[in-house]
Amino acid sequence: MMLDAKWIKSKDMGDVCPRFTKTFTLEKPLQSAILAITARGAYEATLNGQRVGDFVLAPGWTNYEKRLQVQTYDVTELLEENNTLSIQLAKGWYGLYGSWFTPSYQRVFENREQAVLCELTLTFADGTRQVIGSDESFTVTQSQIRFCDIYDGVICDATAPRTPLGQAVLAQNQDKSMLIPQQGETIGTHERLKPIGVITTPKGETVLDFGQNMTGTLSVTLTAKAGEELNVSFAEILDADGNFYTANYRDAKAQYQYICKEGQQTFMPTLTFYGFRYVRIDAAPEGITPDCFTAVVMHSNLRQTGRIITTHSKLQQLFQNVLWGQKSNYLDVPTDCPQRDERLGWTGDAQVFIKAAAYNYDVYRFFTKWLADLQSEQMENGAIPPVIPAMVDCLISAAWADAVTICPWQLYQTYGKTEILTQTFDSMKRWVDYITNTTTTKGLWTGGGHYGDWLELTAPFGECKGQTRDDLIATAFYAHSAELIGMVGDVLGQDVTEYKALYETIKQTFIQTFEGTYATQTEMVLALQFNLTPNPEEVAADLAQRIHDDGDKIQTGFLGTPYILHVLTRYGYTDLAYTLLLRKEYPSWLYPVTRGATTIWEHWDGITPDNRLWPEGMNSFNHYAYGAVADWLYEVAAGITPKQAGFASIRFEPHPCPAIGSLGAEFETPHGLARSFWRYTADGQVVYEITTPVSATAVINGKTYELTPGSYRF
Ligand code: BGC
Repeated sequence: MMLDAKWIKSKDMGDVCPRFTKTFTLEKPLQSAILAITARGAYEATLNGQRVGDFVLAPGWTNYEKRLQVQTYDVTELLEENNTLSIQLAKGWYGLYGSWFTPSYQRVFENREQAVLCELTLTFADGTRQVIGSDESFTVTQSQIRFCDIYDGVICDATAPRTPLGQAVLAQNQDKSMLIPQQGETIGTHERLKPIGVITTPKGETVLDFGQNMTGTLSVTLTAKAGEELNVSFAEILDADGNFYTANYRDAKAQYQYICKEGQQTFMPTLTFYGFRYVRIDAAPEGITPDCFTAVVMHSNLRQTGRIITTHSKLQQLFQNVLWGQKSNYLDVPTDCPQRDERLGWTGDAQVFIKAAAYNYDVYRFFTKWLADLQSEQMENGAIPPVIPAMVDCLISAAWADAVTICPWQLYQTYGKTEILTQTFDSMKRWVDYITNTTTTKGLWTGGGHYGDWLELTAPFGECKGQTRDDLIATAFYAHSAELIGMVGDVLGQDVTEYKALYETIKQTFIQTFEGTYATQTEMVLALQFNLTPNPEEVAADLAQRIHDDGDKIQTGFLGTPYILHVLTRYGYTDLAYTLLLRKEYPSWLYPVTRGATTIWEHWDGITPDNRLWPEGMNSFNHYAYGAVADWLYEVAAGITPKQAGFASIRFEPHPCPAIGSLGAEFETPHGLARSFWRYTADGQVVYEITTPVSATAVINGKTYELTPGSYRF
């Protein structure tokens, strides 16, 4: 790939972002022109001043040492007789660096050399070809982007001269073996939001409120004198006093400093991004008004495939918050959060949310690419780092690393494609073998270090790990992964006798060790969800009792939360599930909604009822994990589940709730639109409407109906 191109860089790689230029003339009539391009960094290319493509933060984020995506653009229409190809380079995720990353990754970072690689293939009308590859004939100038970093933001000086830096030089590292064609979704700009208000805070700050927490950038169009500055800061929330609050960004400076040129101009940085709802104006040219500003949302280009529609306004807002949480954190990699000096591909977060994610948007391609990265980071002994692409190698944790089994299986369930199972099957087995080879007790996973039921409420305020036992969680997920391998093997026609036997051993050992000792909501939830108890009815009754004893409040963290409503419904406690879902006081899903949240918070108590903030070291207001509840809205409240993988046939079993009034889901299955709505009439009857694109079984009010494709009313 890219045989006629060489990796080039600027001989002067300071903070100022370089721009590479090549001029060329077309000697004869052109038939087509294809530009293949990538970078060790983030790039934006123009041809004759016109932007090539609209992929922001290209080439995306992968494990760059092993996999680097190449983008290909048809640029025929952009060419003239005399042409200038220009490539702006910034650090991008290639230069992502947090002071708290583990030393081994700091070394990777230090050795990274920013460079670009491109190849323009011209095919002429007479059938001849000419290839222009990046080499030392490209020239380099300083750009007006004086500084650009994912965490720290941008400084742009529109008055700065474009100082020539001579010819490009060859990068030391000329390796092209890691190049792959674009595999994931591209990233684009989406909604454009105007400020809904201007706030003067008690401290006297001027703050624009965009009304929505989001990931994106800020566009400004203004008239200024050369040299005037526009400096702004970003925040997700205002503090209890109503002042601008940025402490939870930790070391991410998230700066935005623009030195204006003379006259009318627009500035919109797209080689970095911000997680924000509020923008503080720290300095601005005279005459600037809120209308000069537009927040521009950025996320992977995903097609929305599902929606929940309800007359319960707080529940509807919760669902909107789930969508915004997903959009904000599906930026080429499924990240934990988009604002602090983290924004990493945490595997645990990705796996707990993937089912909801796959209802909301078509995520098949997005995850195929990320799972390939995960596989490329899998260690020789089968271990999987907690963050993909790897940046930190803290813990090889249960439920985080199990993303390797859970994510492909979910993709198969939603989309029905076996390719993803074939791609990942070997990695799944290597992961489970890792546990088998390292556990200190056969049949359990003991001796490991784990994140546990992260942020469960059995921990004191400000601490992340509660009372759910690590060994119980680890063994439950060990069983689940072994079981999934058995199921994947059956789909693929592979011999998985060994893993099926392993699953039985783990299950029996789990029961011998933990049955009758469950101490937290999550412990019972996991035993039920993964079928690890011979007495599910009893455990479910205990769980219901425990929830009542806890004041009808949820206590679970990242691991128990996605399953708790499902297991309650499965064992006949749907009313209790609705009680938890519709609770508005802390702790609950709707509590943040009552506090004006527009995204899902990292913590149940990110802001406490008495207005304390969770310690600033870890308090994101845009973390999707608890948004996993949306999958229960689709599958149980509206009642749409795949009866066969990929929704080749469907089961409809809606669960109406009088306190909600009406609720429905629409989901574009691979076979067409599935729809399930229910509503209460004035006399307390329930009307059901179901549309199925394939044959289906509907369970309505305890009665079973076999349906052929079509629309029905009950
Ligand atoms: C992240 C989480 C992640 C966790 C690991 C945090 O810093 O934000 O979402 O899963 O670390 O326990």
